[in-house]
Amino acid sequence: MPQLRKFYPRSRFVFLGIVLAIALLIYKLQAPEISPDIKLAKKLGAEIITACPVVNEPKNLAAFNSCADNLSQLKTLRDTMNAPFLWGAQSQVGNYNIKDTQTTQFDPLVWRHTYLSTFMFKGEPLVEQVNNLTVIHLPTQFRNQLDIGDFPYPFWHSSKKWDSYQQTTELLFFLEQKKLKGALRSAVVDPKRPKVDHAWDGKWVWTDASGKQQPYVTLYTRLFSSSNPHIAKVDAAYRAFEDKLRSHSCLACHSPDNTSKQNPLLILNYPNQALTLRHETVRQIQEKRMPPPNGIANEQERQKLIELAQTFAEAGDQALAYEGEKITLEKKLSQSSINYQ
Ligand code: HEC
Repeated sequence: MPQLRKFYPRSRFVFLGIVLAIALLIYKLQAPEISPDIKLAKKLGAEIITACPVVNEPKNLAAFNSCADNLSQLKTLRDTMNAPFLWGAQSQVGNYNIKDTQTTQFDPLVWRHTYLSTFMFKGEPLVEQVNNLTVIHLPTQFRNQLDIGDFPYPFWHSSKKWDSYQQTTELLFFLEQKKLKGALRSAVVDPKRPKVDHAWDGKWVWTDASGKQQPYVTLYTRLFSSSNPHIAKVDAAYRAFEDKLRSHSCLACHSPDNTSKQNPLLILNYPNQALTLRHETVRQIQEKRMPPPNGIANEQERQKLIELAQTFAEAGDQALAYEGEKITLEKKLSQSSINYQ
């Protein structure tokens, strides 16, 4: 009898164990696999919100500067951003295919420091899984009251673009296989958000009353930390290169108004933005692809431009490496097999 009594409680325990194991197995089979991207997406979203919180006074320059600096330093964001990174406006509410919209291609540091910093964030990131794509929604408010030189270029050259910046309610980030491929201003807008009016005078760059080059946010002194020893070298290299880009009409097509309808657009007329293409320009001139259709005919001129492009690419690499950026271009988006929907 005592043996039996001993047996029964133990068998009940074993039985309970089996039931629990079966229940767990059924739960495991039914619960959808949580993609590791979702965890990463929530972390990325939360970090961006913390780096650039909404402040009461949207003109607050100290908040804008601290947001830009914080974004440069965000390690998870830096490690996750694809190079090149794509940015534009969502073509239609609910369309998460970034290739369906007009985008511009960016060096990751240039985008997060110069563009992302013009937004403030609040609330919680909302993460959505759409097939293989993880979409991060970040509720946002644009700093539209800053001075005109605080923006990467006069967005108001197109009222549609300027409105999209001012009235979008969220930014969408696209994560796939642990890589952040790009971001869009959501097509979900709040028409009640007050707008600031600016008239464009046709100038992409200008000198202000104090003699400062504008937009100053496009300068390397703004992008890189003050201790970066390569600033003067990369600036001199860009100026020499830019002068020739102008005379070979490269800037006529590679400017924000995108007269040749490139998609993604490649911008060369600002120091910071030109970093994005620093290696590709060398190749395009070497292979006589740019300017279309057959490159530069004069061989001496062509060699000179290749030399200037190489000097700029090397100085750009050094300056970016000093900031802790990866300097090798990853596989190009256009060549990847990734389907965005
Ligand atoms: C008439 C317009 C036009 C001019 C002028 C022009 N480009 Fe382009 N460029 C384009 C277009 C359009 C593309 C998009 C790719 C394509 O269609 O070949 C492009 C692409 C590029 C690319 C990227 C190519 C790639 O596959 O990633 C680079 C780099 C480039 N151009 C540099 C230059 C340079 C440097 C000059 C001047 C020497 C120049 N471009 C002049 C229109 C132009």
